[in-house]
Amino acid sequence: MEETFKTIKTDVLVIGAGGAGMRASIAVKEAGLDVVMVTKSLLGKAHTVMAEGGIAAALGNVDPQDNWKVHYGDIIEEGVYISNWKMAEICAKEAPERVFELESYGALFDRTPDGRILQRAFGAHTYRRLCHVGDRTGLEIIKTLEDQILHRDVKFYDEMYITKIVVKNGKACGAIGIKMNTGEFHYFQAKSVIVATGGCGRVYKVTSNSWESTGDGLGLAYEAGAVLKDMEMIQFHPTGMVYPPGVKGLLITEAVRGEGGILLNSKGERYMLRYSPQKKELDARDVVARANYREIQEGRGTEHGGVYLDITSKGADYIKHKLPSMYMQFMEFAGVDITKEKMEVAPTVHYQMGGIRVEPETGHSSLEGLFAAGEVASGLHGANRLGGNSLADILVFGRRAGIGAAEYSKNVKDIEVDTKVVNDEIKRIKGFLRKDGKNPYELIDRLTTAMSDHVGIVRTKEEIEKAIKIINELKEDYKNVGSLGSFKYNHGLLGCLELGNMLIATEAISRAALMREESRGAHTRVDFPKKDKNWLKNIEIKKANSGMQFDVVPVEEMPEEYKQYAKPEEY
Ligand code: FUM
Repeated sequence: MEETFKTIKTDVLVIGAGGAGMRASIAVKEAGLDVVMVTKSLLGKAHTVMAEGGIAAALGNVDPQDNWKVHYGDIIEEGVYISNWKMAEICAKEAPERVFELESYGALFDRTPDGRILQRAFGAHTYRRLCHVGDRTGLEIIKTLEDQILHRDVKFYDEMYITKIVVKNGKACGAIGIKMNTGEFHYFQAKSVIVATGGCGRVYKVTSNSWESTGDGLGLAYEAGAVLKDMEMIQFHPTGMVYPPGVKGLLITEAVRGEGGILLNSKGERYMLRYSPQKKELDARDVVARANYREIQEGRGTEHGGVYLDITSKGADYIKHKLPSMYMQFMEFAGVDITKEKMEVAPTVHYQMGGIRVEPETGHSSLEGLFAAGEVASGLHGANRLGGNSLADILVFGRRAGIGAAEYSKNVKDIEVDTKVVNDEIKRIKGFLRKDGKNPYELIDRLTTAMSDHVGIVRTKEEIEKAIKIINELKEDYKNVGSLGSFKYNHGLLGCLELGNMLIATEAISRAALMREESRGAHTRVDFPKKDKNWLKNIEIKKANSGMQFDVVPVEEMPEEYKQYAKPEEY
């Protein structure tokens, strides 16, 4: 039977409307090509807003010694020497331009007394480098980019869930999706596709990530044949809310520590003096997150299973001015006045360092015609990400992916696919509507529990194997997943679709975590507690007939002259 669907033709299709997707779309428009942007969420509602404390760019406004080389060195050290050096160079060099560009678009950053962009301290950045708008930097960036999208008349489809990237003759050439608020199927025919769908934090039980972050782009790209990389590297932000239960995991910006907040255990000890006497609360995220975790595990936690974060010494006016969202968040959700009381905090899953492998300059993936940018792409952050570098990443590499896809598309003729491809995909989606289907949210609950319990902040072979066993069982259950209702506003159907991608993401994370028998950055193996030079490697994953295929690939060596920018003994 022929299915009914709408066909939309464009030069470049952008999947995702966070900072990376929007900046990519602007770049395609500027190159004079047609672009269509789709999001499963609403325009302006993206996880980008959760990068609250600032965007990292070596402007040197507050600490004049700062420059791109220092930023580059910080990225390499924080990524524990498995970042792609070229991406680190591009990011460190171009982040300042992207910040000034945002200003030209209308973003308003906090200022120094002499009127320049103010910069604050963040963990493991050598200098004060985070350009910020109070604690609402991500929100300011999204709103600014959204204005540009509307002003430039970029076509967009919101509440559009993409279920498949279309590939013909080894080239990505479009996608198929369902508009969730109308139930209509769409086929987007494009000369190239950019994936900018963000991360997969929602595969864990406790996360700072908003509901959209279910690893859709990872699943789509993997199924289409693209290579993924560094999937074992999951960042735990040291400070998420712990109470009340409804907001467990919600981000408490690193800016609280950047502005002088200190961490205390239930005995009142400032324990970071023990774990990191030099950098204390402003050490790398993995160091602080593990310290928080250990204090809680060893019985020095708070009533609700966290530790304390205390900024009261700064005074009410300062706190309300610098951290207005944190003040409101605690007041409204927890009834806690952070100008007078300590916050209860605990680690929360925040970011995936891994993702689609891309060419540094263009964002081109290993699959021809498929590009990626932002959290869904890998390379820049290696084994761990510096706070504020996600915002730099989405702008620098979003723009580059847009330019890359536009350049590529200029040389591509329209690629038509047989309508059978679209019909088959629609039939697959229709298969999820059934009376006797397993409830996707029960399966998601088991999956996220397994990830949090067994592939968390510290890992062992035995624990990871438990997760893999559960994932394998869930893959079997997934064959019978389903939902009642129609295609319109069907949350159950959405769960079925997202779960498919979550299973791909979790299998990739867990099996790569099992392979990496060392501890590096965000990946802590209690059974292999040391960093191992033999693991100066990236784990790459691609789809094979037998399932996931894993390859261990040496990290590309940086030019000799660049080695001086990071601690040399590590190479
Ligand atoms: O803590 C924060 O404001 C988060 C920033 C980031 O992840 O880059």
